[in-house]
Amino acid sequence: MKSPASPARTTAPASPHRSLPPGFVWGVATSSYQIEGAAQEDGRTPSIWDTFCRVPGAVAGGDNGDVACDHYHRMPEDVAMIADLGVDAYRFSVAWPRVQPGGRGPADARGLAFYDRLVDELLGRGVKPWVTLYHWDLPQPLEDAGGWPARDTAYRFADYAMMVHQALGDRVENWTTLNEPWCSAFLGYAEGMHAPGRRDPAAAVAATHHLLLGHGLAVSRLREAATVPLQAGITLNLSDHRAASDSPEDRDALRRADGVANRLYLDPLLRGHYPEDVVEDLARAGTPLPVQDGDLRTIGQPIDVLGVNYYNYNVYAADSGADEGGGYGSGIRTVPQDVERTAMGWAVQPDGLTSLLLRLAREYPGTPLAVTENGAAFDDEQPAGGRLRDERRVAFLRDHVEAMARACEDGADVRGYFAWSLMDNFEWAAGYGPRFGLVHVDYATQRRTLKDSALWYRGMIADR
Ligand code: FCB
Repeated sequence: MKSPASPARTTAPASPHRSLPPGFVWGVATSSYQIEGAAQEDGRTPSIWDTFCRVPGAVAGGDNGDVACDHYHRMPEDVAMIADLGVDAYRFSVAWPRVQPGGRGPADARGLAFYDRLVDELLGRGVKPWVTLYHWDLPQPLEDAGGWPARDTAYRFADYAMMVHQALGDRVENWTTLNEPWCSAFLGYAEGMHAPGRRDPAAAVAATHHLLLGHGLAVSRLREAATVPLQAGITLNLSDHRAASDSPEDRDALRRADGVANRLYLDPLLRGHYPEDVVEDLARAGTPLPVQDGDLRTIGQPIDVLGVNYYNYNVYAADSGADEGGGYGSGIRTVPQDVERTAMGWAVQPDGLTSLLLRLAREYPGTPLAVTENGAAFDDEQPAGGRLRDERRVAFLRDHVEAMARACEDGADVRGYFAWSLMDNFEWAAGYGPRFGLVHVDYATQRRTLKDSALWYRGMIADR
């Protein structure tokens, strides 16, 4: 609720905590392929990312996740570091090709044992595990059999989810099925920028449906198998995009871009049907959604939390010659904004987090939200004397936390915030260049150094 004394919108609240609900969860996030390394150990077999990294030119610098942050071998020290930040929760993902090499058949006990130890280490230090089952590392044999465009992959995913649940379900409460299915589908199968590097829009649309189906199947089975209460959800990359003008053409460009980026995922998950206008657009483009009877019931079953990954938003205009509408938008152009940019070239737009959370609260009421990723890559200096001054990241995080708090003040039900990322890591097609960490990683020595942003985050959390 908004208090009469609340400061003007332009003035940041002195402390965001006043507007956040009790029990608000502060955390840090990572994902398996980006930090674990040990790519060929303990029975792990290649994922689509191991394969993609070997394609000449696919990843900057020819980088790959073979070693990454060597987290697989340094997990106890890393967990001690996480606990030392004072966070409530740690969001990590489980590597499917470690737990079920090849994506079919029995689980590998060694892979599961790693996550079993990780969960125990976290709980032993008072940090809640938030498990993501799929953060992009599809076992390569499943891609060879058709990947996410093939319906069977959804069923394979649900089986794998059960293996993880069997091992961790007695201690893990928070389960996220997928991370950013739009990226898996459109960057992976339409734009070819991410693994598996295909450029086939029809495959991306089919992948979308089967990712969502896999989510729904996994949620049903998680609930059936639960012996302790669990919170099940999914994490989407979302942005409250804008139109360049009020003209019907620009507004239609926004409708189409927003349709594929946001509503194509939100509507089936939270309203139980695909958005009609997007269904029509896709059918007209010759890339229909391969929906079968009962699928939408499976996909649209209630979830306990919607994970929101927020980085920035785009401003869209109609332009017959362009194709920039989020991987699926001929006739759409993004209009460059004159704002600060991160090392990824992404615009810094904290106001977009406020408007996104409020939009979700308005258009999809009743679903608790958590910001499961937010953060920035900047060209950090090297650590000197054990210190790294990353003022820009501190300002970025502060401004976004405050932007989130403003949305809460105005009624958005946000239950948690996870900084991306705990530490510098393998940034997918951009390789090891961009550094998103609160903790600096020297890849030659694997030495970790807390940046000023980590100290700031710890201080803010301690201050509640
Ligand atoms: C998100 C991904 C995450 C990380 C950040 C920067 O799209 O989920 O793994 O790469 O972007």
